[in-house]
Formats: sequence, structure tokens, C-alpha cells
Amino acid sequence: MTDMTIAALCGSLRRASMTRMLRATLPELAPEGVRILDVEIDAVPMFNSDIREDSGTPEAVTALCEALAAADAVVLCSPEYNRMVPGALKNAMDWVSTEPGFPMSGKPVAVMTQSPGPRGGNMSNYAWRQVLSVIGAELVPGPDVSIGLMEEKVADGKLVDEPSRKLVAKQLGLLVERARLLKG
Ligand SMILES: Cc1cc2nc3c(=O)[nH]c(=O)nc-3n(C[C@H](O)[C@H](O)[C@H](O)COP(=O)(O)O)c2cc1C
Repeated sequence: MTDMTIAALCGSLRRASMTRMLRATLPELAPEGVRILDVEIDAVPMFNSDIREDSGTPEAVTALCEALAAADAVVLCSPEYNRMVPGALKNAMDWVSTEPGFPMSGKPVAVMTQSPGPRGGNMSNYAWRQVLSVIGAELVPGPDVSIGLMEEKVADGKLVDEPSRKLVAKQLGLLVERARLLKG
């Protein structure tokens, strides 16, 4: 029985994204009873409050907010761009943070980064913590999921490196534990 939904966002928009491969692995590593719902940000425009004033909240932003609000928890899968969080996902979070209802507020969140480099995008991972704290999300403590040398750790569109899979599974377990506690 599925009793919990985790919204999973991907910070890279490109087709062959390794971050997307990380996200694609989440369903097989999630605890029992958990559905991973891929939530896309591709259609979210660059933030500009004039858009909202002129023609209302863009459809893609409303859909994103609704998916986040309905989810019990959120996973951000992210690359690192220039030692920072990627613009597209930050932009999506900027929209979300200005929408009524603040769908990320109080939401349990886990951040997972990857990189072809050795550090696994850990600066992006920690920069996300700053953004998430400002928008009121509840960052769930746990192992630092910054997966380095990612190209060597994926096959057939999934993460196959066993130590990394264990870390992801542990983080998902802690996230779900917290979300179940909050759900009551
Ligand atoms: C604009 C840009 C900046 C980047 N900066 C970093 C960086 O700071 N640290 C890093 O580890 N990799 C960096 N990279 C390499 C990315 O980690 C690599 O392209 C990765 O595959 C992106 O994730 P994706 O496969 O999900 O698209 C950068 C790539 C781009 C395009």
C-alpha cells in the first residue's frame, strides 16, 4: 500500500543528464509504501513578478506548487554549476517561494547532488541548504549525498554504484521517517 508521495525534482534540463539518472534510481531505493513522483520544471519561465501581475501565475508554476503541496516530502536532485546551485531549479524555487500557500514551507526535504568531478557537487549541496532554510523547508539531516565521479557510477540510466546507492537509500529512509512523523 502506498501511503506517502515524494516529489522528486531534477536540477538539470538536458536529456542525458546524470542528475536525472540519480532521480530515476530513487523508486528502487525508496522504502516500501513510498511513491516517487517526478516533477518537472522545464516549462517554468524566468522569474518576473510582472508575469504574475499581467497574466496571473504561469501554468507551469501552479502545477509545480500543487505537486509540491500535495507531496509528503521532496527530494532535490541537483548538479553543481560554477560551485553553485543550478539556475533553473533555483528559479523554480524562487517562483514557489513567492506563491501563496508557500508549498515548500515546513516540507521535509533531502538534497542529493552529483558531479563527474570528485567532490560530487558538494558546494551546490551545501548552497541548497541555505536556499531551503530561507524558504522555510525542513532539511532532513542525514548522510551527505554528494556523488562524485558519477560517470563511472551509472549504467543504463541508473545509479549502479553500491556504496552510493546505500547512501541514497539511507537518506530516503530518514526523509520518509520524518515525513511519516509529521503526517501522524
Ligand atoms: C555551466 C556549468 C558549470 C559547471 N560547474 C561545475 C562545478 O562547479 N562543479 C562541478 O563539479 N561540475 C561542474 N560542471 C560540470 C557538471 O557537473 C556536469 O556537466 C554534470 O554532468 C551536470 O549534470 P547533468 O549531467 O545532470 O546535466 C559544470 C557544468 C556546467 C555546464
